[in-house]
Amino acid sequence: MPIFTKKDALKAHLQHYRDSGKAIGFVPTMGALHQGHLALVKQSVAQNGATVVSIFVNPTQFNNPDDLLKYPRTLDADVQKIATVHPDVVVFAPEVDEMYDGNTQSKHYDFDGLETKMEGAHRPGHFDGVGTIVKKLFDIVQPTNAYFGEKDFQQLQIVKKLVEKESLGINIVGCPISREESGLAMSSRNERLTEKERKDAAIIYRILQEAREHFKTESIAEVREHALEAFETHPEFKPEYFEIAEESTLETATLKENRKYRAFIAVFLGNVRLIDNISLN
Ligand code: PAF
Repeated sequence: MPIFTKKDALKAHLQHYRDSGKAIGFVPTMGALHQGHLALVKQSVAQNGATVVSIFVNPTQFNNPDDLLKYPRTLDADVQKIATVHPDVVVFAPEVDEMYDGNTQSKHYDFDGLETKMEGAHRPGHFDGVGTIVKKLFDIVQPTNAYFGEKDFQQLQIVKKLVEKESLGINIVGCPISREESGLAMSSRNERLTEKERKDAAIIYRILQEAREHFKTESIAEVREHALEAFETHPEFKPEYFEIAEESTLETATLKENRKYRAFIAVFLGNVRLIDNISLN
């Protein structure tokens, strides 16, 4: 399985695919891969002549240094998991200096306000870090299609905006959230939950499903109130936000109009921060 740590070597390798007219699919990750990531890799393999998976824990998108420190780094296991999808998938696993050339700073981005809401409001600088690294990775890989999970729905919208604003000509493919049997959205952070917490965390999706039901008959304010009330009976969960927003702009919704809405949640369970979302209509 081809594994690269240097961008120039990767670029030269990918040129062969480009020269032979193959579409290149790209799945950017921070490693600690789970079935959700592998679903993205499978989709890319099915839709492209070549697939690249990057594994890079990007320091500039962590606003909490402890989170960066604790982020699982499992390169060998990740490579083995990718090989089970297809042995020809190309892995790019650079060091920090290779990506940042000794200047580990993010660029400041204006994503037309998408960056200031929800995750952006609670994780200052996060989307500057995401924009910076995704742009750098896109410049290296120059993919035809790039695959992002809908669990990070705000990130998905921001990457689409980045591609639009910088005219990158890359097709961004949003992929459905992969869930554990209990309904818990798959996330590398789930590894940090105790067995009991991981079981209890299924409540998050149940509350989102209830919100979808309530949305059929209740006002937006009522749906929100009911969701937050539901968490009150589970005091081990500390919700950071519960938002109902219009899908493309992520503007907080107040009145129901003929538009697509999603409910978004960020919640702490112990010291692990979990996010999830659901389409409401
Ligand atoms: O979603 C992630 O894992 C990261 O935010 C990404 C897109 C790989 C950028 O570091």
